[in-house]
Amino acid sequence: MTYVVTENCIKCKYTTCVAVCPTDSFRDTGAFLVIDPEACIDCALCVTECPANAIFPVHEVPPTQRDFIAINAELAVRHPVITTRMPASPDADTWNGKADKRVFIESAAAST
Ligand code: SF4
Ligand code: F3S
Repeated sequence: MTYVVTENCIKCKYTTCVAVCPTDSFRDTGAFLVIDPEACIDCALCVTECPANAIFPVHEVPPTQRDFIAINAELAVRHPVITTRMPASPDADTWNGKADKRVFIESAAAST
């Protein structure tokens, strides 16, 4: 099993999740983070660290967010590891909870 970062991370990117991950599973894609399913050990530590409530275990990803399972896996293999907390995205609190943020994902992943 793995955990999955979903749409609400986009344009928020608080990065508080990365500081608690024991396996350095987060990858920085630019607009948002993803979790490498090959590295995640299902510890769940990151879930409560996310102010955007964007992280779910793979079997509990909401129906409208299921495409992010593949998006996490695809983007994780070609983006760098992030292990240090960074400043949140500009206007992160404004973007938190907004719908239709997929347009900000790089085009290759958004088309999947
Ligand atoms: Fe890292 Fe644990 Fe979150 Fe997986 S569930 S990404 S291992 S903190
Ligand atoms: Fe994204 Fe939440 Fe981490 S907004 S960067 S999954 S703390």
